[in-house]
Amino acid sequence: MKTVSSKINSRPIGVFDSGLGGLTVLKELEQYLPNESFIYFGDTARVPYGNKSSDNVINYSQRIIQFLINKNIKLAVVACNTSSALALSHLNNLFDMPIFGVIGPSVKFAEKISKFSQIGVIGTNATIKSKAYSKAFKKMGSNKKITEYACPLFVPLIEEGMLRGQIVKKIILHYLKEIPLNKIDTLILGCTHYPLISTELQ
Ligand code: DGL
Repeated sequence: MKTVSSKINSRPIGVFDSGLGGLTVLKELEQYLPNESFIYFGDTARVPYGNKSSDNVINYSQRIIQFLINKNIKLAVVACNTSSALALSHLNNLFDMPIFGVIGPSVKFAEKISKFSQIGVIGTNATIKSKAYSKAFKKMGSNKKITEYACPLFVPLIEEGMLRGQIVKKIILHYLKEIPLNKIDTLILGCTHYPLISTELQ
């Protein structure tokens, strides 16, 4: 019995994202779970997910989880906000294995640290359109005021490796000037790519 459980535990954790952005999540996971091994799948052939239909994102996510299951993972982390927003409940209904998304943990943390109850969320078109963040706050019984904004050019920029400089700054300003930053006390980077430009965002 012991041998079986240690065999199960030594199986890898699958992590996937539409591209490179999920490496920010993988980095954190490796830090918190140093004894685990991971398989990372970045769907760089089909990135960005943020402008695709919900059916497409569900279809890609399902196929990637199946691919990772074939690699013998013991659980999966959907390190993509767009996929977490559009596909997570479908994946959890379909697969008999723990599958975690990234929206729930961000929402719980923001709820805890927000001082004045005004929270902004930036993300891809699909994530923002789904209202997944507002819904998650509501589900938790939160009374915070949530405002959500799409920043669709950030992902192509980041996938091109453009993380700093004038162009990045201009595009950030293009979106952030639409957001009443003086009215929010916490901004959720609702896309796993965005921490890669957090210096410029800050
Ligand atoms: N990294 C993804 C996210 O967190 C998706 C970006 C994209 O593929 O558009 O939403």
